[in-house]
Amino acid sequence: MAIDPVIETGDSMPAINILDCPKKMFRWTRQQQANGELVGVVPTMGALHEGHLSLVEAARARCEKVVVTIFVNPTQFGPNEDYERYPRTLQKDVGLLSDLGVDCVFAPSKEDMYPQGSSTTVAPPAVATKLEGECRPEHFGGVCTIVLKLLQIIPADLACFGQKDFQQALVIRNMVRDLNLPTQVAICPIKREPDGLAMSSRNVYLDAGERKRALSLVQALRQVPEAIGQGIKDTGLIETRMKEFLRPFVDRIDYAVVVDSETLECLEAVDRTVVGLIAAYIGKTRLIDNCVVSVAGETDLLIESNH
Ligand code: PAF
Repeated sequence: MAIDPVIETGDSMPAINILDCPKKMFRWTRQQQANGELVGVVPTMGALHEGHLSLVEAARARCEKVVVTIFVNPTQFGPNEDYERYPRTLQKDVGLLSDLGVDCVFAPSKEDMYPQGSSTTVAPPAVATKLEGECRPEHFGGVCTIVLKLLQIIPADLACFGQKDFQQALVIRNMVRDLNLPTQVAICPIKREPDGLAMSSRNVYLDAGERKRALSLVQALRQVPEAIGQGIKDTGLIETRMKEFLRPFVDRIDYAVVVDSETLECLEAVDRTVVGLIAAYIGKTRLIDNCVVSVAGETDLLIESNH
């Protein structure tokens, strides 16, 4: 979609830059840093919601300049996934980002990011092999490749990702560490609708009935702190509770597990901080959600909504 390279945002706000050229984006970033300003980047695939906007706020709190990237990355979608159907709302997204005072939007085309003949890819770190890696074998290769490319084009001081995609956040954090990238990675809390549903660009696929059934994910996750709070340490037992809760509401469960929150390794007992992770289909829509729980049962899910 064609869009003005600079959009005026009213009297008090400076104009937002919109760039699609990787070289110009790199120069812009380096220029800010040469001026002594910290640059924060929020990589997204667009169709922005309050979850993304909270990442922008987190970047803004720590950096003088904020860049948001908008690119629906084809290489992270499997052959039968929703690449074509994924919501694309660039004009609206840019309006939201202008209102938030974002300094620059990087919205490249597929050809800008993957020029003809480009064939180099990134082998993701070990934490990518489990869960999502089993269900979506090419997904994290695509994510790592695009995020590395974005961080080459925008060598930001800080990059903000959402905890909603918990495994993705670990994969990116480990890749950045393993490849000695200079960017610091921040993992920011999940934003939820008032009824608890985790915000996601894919929620627009849900009809009214599916939207109600989708709440079963967060409700099943509440079983985790509840069980641990009751002194139940057996992860198998907790996983069974989660699955039994989910089954009447969802059409397919890809996984519902309680695992080590750093390595995603299976555990027999809850003897350290764990993460409850669910991936399930409501109709044709695949949703994911998670909650981190300490050995004492403390969790980010005790709050009904973090609005
Ligand atoms: O989380 C997303 O929106 C995407 O996976 C990301 C990190 C922007 C890479 O395309």
